[in-house]
Amino acid sequence: MRMYDIIKKKRDGEELSTEEINFFIENYVRDIIPDYQASALLMAIYLKKMNERETLDLTKAIINSGETVDLSDIKGIKVDKHSTGGVGDKTTLALGPMVAACGVPFVKMSGRGLGHTGGTLDKLESIKGFRVELTRDELIDNANKINIAICSQSSNITPGDKKLYGLRDVTATVDDISLIASSVMSKKLAIKSDAILLDVKIGKGAFMHDLKDGIELAKEMVKIGTGYGRKTIAVLTNMDEPLGYGVGNALEVKEAIETLKGRGPRDFTELCLILGSKLLILSQKVKNEDEGRTRIKEVINNGKAYEKFLELVKCQGGDVNFVENTDLLPKSTYIFELKSNKEGHVRSINAEEVGKCDIILGAGRQVKNSPLDLSAGIVFSVKVDDFVKRGDTLCYIHSNSIEKENEVAEKLIKIIEIGEKNPVEKKLLYGEV
Ligand code: URA
Repeated sequence: MRMYDIIKKKRDGEELSTEEINFFIENYVRDIIPDYQASALLMAIYLKKMNERETLDLTKAIINSGETVDLSDIKGIKVDKHSTGGVGDKTTLALGPMVAACGVPFVKMSGRGLGHTGGTLDKLESIKGFRVELTRDELIDNANKINIAICSQSSNITPGDKKLYGLRDVTATVDDISLIASSVMSKKLAIKSDAILLDVKIGKGAFMHDLKDGIELAKEMVKIGTGYGRKTIAVLTNMDEPLGYGVGNALEVKEAIETLKGRGPRDFTELCLILGSKLLILSQKVKNEDEGRTRIKEVINNGKAYEKFLELVKCQGGDVNFVENTDLLPKSTYIFELKSNKEGHVRSINAEEVGKCDIILGAGRQVKNSPLDLSAGIVFSVKVDDFVKRGDTLCYIHSNSIEKENEVAEKLIKIIEIGEKNPVEKKLLYGEV
């Protein structure tokens, strides 16, 4: 078999066989196929598309490129949740403890942030001592003891995706439905939870800008998950503006803690209730969404969700004082209050542009492994559809550099678009697949 022939076949719009897809992934991971040939194939896939069977074969080949994690030693129905990426998306930090407090084992292997979207591991590391590296035994023990473990994914899991994703990122081949579906689902399926909930983000700050494409991606991923014998559902949610008010690592941890205590932003709390109730249904703890929402509200109101977060932090070596007194979390030297120079309704706050501001402040990464300023970020005082007067606070910019703060302030005053009321009110949940 020759890589040249595989590229040519896809270039001409033909279907690749299982053997050809396996040949590509196996030999690319072993550095036998060079990046230039892999790039050519990715572009051919991007332009000529893959069908369902090819996408499933690609997912399988990526899973088989590395190890899988067996979670059968954890008691109960294990649930996993995945977001396709957003700005201010601190959902795992609040949702995990909420469902764990309802008795559902929540095991999550997370990633670091890259580009305009943030990563759960970076956020957790703003809590002093928090260990994101866990051995498999620690993961199993913690999940059995306290129902929750959040850690980094070992480099031996889906190495094919790591290599391919890096290449897609620099060859303009990220936003293809088959490539995203196989990338996300290979990682989810390599970790053997019993049920998977996918939060497919739609909007300006998401990979999928369009609802139609989002539905297609969701359907493709659900088909792959179900085909693998896992209960899989996907919800489609809004990522036009940042989720909640806080964007930036320590700032998001603080907001997640507030949400666990019942004092979180309305949209973020609602997202946790939507996703939480679905996770409780998937784990057979409740029969319907109303029951699920009631259970999640209960653990927020009786303090059990917050206590679970404390247990998680303690169990993974973190200093709980940072949770009990969030003033201890990393803090920026400068906090700049940005005021409105107009009166009107907030029409939009482009999440992708906000994510780029976060990168300027040092809270997000442009390139892999670059160090982060965990204290930096933005705390909005307004959301889309709010009414503001001239002189009202729009947001606070947290930074350790006055120059960066000024640069971001200039951008944000344009990003927070103020004018006539939007004709249609924004929606958080678009649907379920
Ligand atoms: N997230 C992933 O893990 N993979 C993609 O391709 C896109 C988003």
